[in-house]
Amino acid sequence: MARLLGIRIKNYRALADVALGQVTYAKGDALPRLVCLIGPNGSGKSTLLDAFGFVADCLLEGVEAACDKSARGGFENLRTQGQSGPIEFELFFEDDDSLRPIVYLLHVDLVQGVPAVVKETLRQRQQGETRGKPYHFLKLDNGVGKVWTGQSVDVRAEKSDSQRVRLAEQDKLGITTLGNLSEHPRIVRLRSYIEQWYLSYFVPDAARDLPPAGAQRWLDRKGSNVGNVLQYFQRQYPEEFKSILKRLARAIPGLKKITPEQSKDKRLLLKFDETGYKDPFFQQNMSDGTLKMLAYAVLLEDPSPRPFIGIEEPENGLYVRLVERLASQFTTRATSTAPATQILVTTHSPYFVDALRPEQVWLVRKDEHGHATAQRAADIPEIRSLSAEGIPLGSLWYSNHFDDGAPE
Ligand SMILES: Nc1ncnc2c1ncn2[C@@H]1O[C@H](COP(=O)(O)OP(=O)(O)OP(=O)(O)O)[C@@H](O)[C@H]1O
Ligand SMILES: [Mg+2]
Repeated sequence: MARLLGIRIKNYRALADVALGQVTYAKGDALPRLVCLIGPNGSGKSTLLDAFGFVADCLLEGVEAACDKSARGGFENLRTQGQSGPIEFELFFEDDDSLRPIVYLLHVDLVQGVPAVVKETLRQRQQGETRGKPYHFLKLDNGVGKVWTGQSVDVRAEKSDSQRVRLAEQDKLGITTLGNLSEHPRIVRLRSYIEQWYLSYFVPDAARDLPPAGAQRWLDRKGSNVGNVLQYFQRQYPEEFKSILKRLARAIPGLKKITPEQSKDKRLLLKFDETGYKDPFFQQNMSDGTLKMLAYAVLLEDPSPRPFIGIEEPENGLYVRLVERLASQFTTRATSTAPATQILVTTHSPYFVDALRPEQVWLVRKDEHGHATAQRAADIPEIRSLSAEGIPLGSLWYSNHFDDGAPE
């Protein structure tokens, strides 16, 4: 389970009906490895990123807990104002066969005043088929329905290999439960894929705290455990570790070298050699921007990365030249042969957008009803042709060339 091809979201805050990428079965342009959302304040960019967080929270904690997270404020605050009916998500994934994407559909609504999963389905084309419509291999209405084991479904009756399913709680997703069972390998892969999504909120102060000892597999959402993650890399990839540190140092201007040092209580302390200084500095002395760049570099250099990374306004607190540099690190990562990861960023920075292609940028705006719309820059003919002439995308945006593409 490696890649998100497209997503359609309905009734989630300002996203009354928004689609990105491939949302018709195996047709149209899939989302690229790097997706960037731009647009005015309040247009729905953060909401789109949070929609991914919401689906992941539903999987990990249940729908009620996901709705009640403090930034969300409960189901009634989440459903698009003035709409009735469920909050809907439809996600198109590439699993192991690009001709047979998997479609995951999830509807969340109030049942007797409590948020619940009212519909959940999974569909895929039959094994060996390269055309035709996808068949259900999970179909649940209000927690009751069927799951199909194995890959083959009886085309006519859709009933071979099927088992009846009745979930004990409507608060939990079917894929949470069935994704633990080895007889449903596709659901196991989907569950583990979504579990590994990573949405970051780097807080440089957090990276300055002295971390507890011990290796940790993943960077936490605040980026506070950079040292622990590097300790994991050191242990797990001893051969590559030196070159990882070299690449990290290269990602940060003015830095000559990063050297690891083991403290007496077995922490990995990072020493930073800066141009112009004889003695190295420790992590606590580094600047906000440097720590941010370090956290991003650790994410991008992970030899076995998260499959999906969402980052809000990475430019915050970075010098303009660093923003350009970071954007090119993201674009390079998106095309590299290293194990694949998919990155979704929001930005207000034209310098960041300058490094991108029109196929990687979506303009998010509100229509006359206050609902968000998302338009790919490559679908605005003028942008497409000016960009093909070599004019950087950020300057086209800054000089208002995006304005006549979509309703304001
Ligand atoms: N239940 C809801 N129904 C409709 N719209 C909603 C609902 N809840 C929030 N909104 C709207 O969603 C918008 C918030 O969007 P969001 O925070 O995603 O914007 P943004 O594009 O990230 O902006 P910024 O650039 O300022 O970060 C607000 O304008 C708010 O009015
Ligand atoms: Mg925002």
